[in-house]
Amino acid sequence: MKEEISNIKNEAIAQIMEADSAAELEEISIAYLGRNGKLTNLIKRLKEVPPEERKENGILLNEAKSTIQSFLATQKGKLSVSARKWFDPTVPGNRPPTGHLHLVTRAIREISKIFENLGYVRVRYPEADWDWFAFESLNMPKDHPARDEWETFFVDGPVDPKLGQIVLTPHTSNGQVREMLRVKTPPIRMLNIAKCYRRQSDASHFPMFHQFEGLVIDKGVSIAHLKGSLDSFAKAFFGTERKTRLRPHHFQFTEPSFEVDISCGICGGKGCKFCKDGWVELGGSGMVHPAVLKNGGIDPNIYTGFAFGWGVDRVMMMKAGLNIPDLRLLYSSDLRYLSQF
Ligand code: PHE
Repeated sequence: MKEEISNIKNEAIAQIMEADSAAELEEISIAYLGRNGKLTNLIKRLKEVPPEERKENGILLNEAKSTIQSFLATQKGKLSVSARKWFDPTVPGNRPPTGHLHLVTRAIREISKIFENLGYVRVRYPEADWDWFAFESLNMPKDHPARDEWETFFVDGPVDPKLGQIVLTPHTSNGQVREMLRVKTPPIRMLNIAKCYRRQSDASHFPMFHQFEGLVIDKGVSIAHLKGSLDSFAKAFFGTERKTRLRPHHFQFTEPSFEVDISCGICGGKGCKFCKDGWVELGGSGMVHPAVLKNGGIDPNIYTGFAFGWGVDRVMMMKAGLNIPDLRLLYSSDLRYLSQF
């Protein structure tokens, strides 16, 4: 039987090496390894072999089988490589997938551009900052109840005797006094865009979000300038048909303080299920408090200013047509969701 095995094996190898199509290889495979193949038939005859020779022949049969299989595979590979030699340069290529900027990045760029056109200068300040810049210098001393609104994350670390603890900035207003100290002598026209952090998470809140903060300080700056700047932003960002209004509010660091509303984009200001009375809230603003100016080294008897701090994610979601049901989806890094924009 030994000789038969080796003959069949060599015969198969010779045929395989000469085959020049996949179909031919398939035929050879069936002729040797198929249910009625030459090698298969030999294997079937193994039980007729005297017991003492069975083991040796069994090993040889197995070896022949795997050799034939590997020759079949190698030859198949060779044939497909030579088939590929024919190259058609007119076949359209596969375009690699292209990405796009995240919605929030696009909104940040758009907001920056609008304010740059109004003469604002974009700056960035630390997103983990001293308590003094985030609260104390803004008229919110330690333990002041107004701080509660800012649901702050505190960082475990050394406490500075004057500046206090380090916090993850809960708003971009930490940039106000920092900008005053940087510029020293007004005019100041600051646009500070940064990440903010608060302990909150639901469909319209995420523990990390973005704010853009404006600060304008000069001689004779009034509420009219505040209203003019914000109205012009709202029209550029949301559309010229939209109106804005100031509604009295309270912040420790502005006096007077306002909440800015914009006419509803869905009903056009008539009142609907979404807005109720025709207006939706954009964010806070006000005239910089004299004590805050003093903390920034600016004389409140000479200079006045206004400030506003709004959510980037928020104004972006309010843009017509986006219809984002849950803010948290934006930060999920799920391309199935993000690539639709
Ligand atoms: N910092 C305030 C907030 O996060 C917004 C604000 C900024 C209000 C500047 C007035 C002036 O809610």
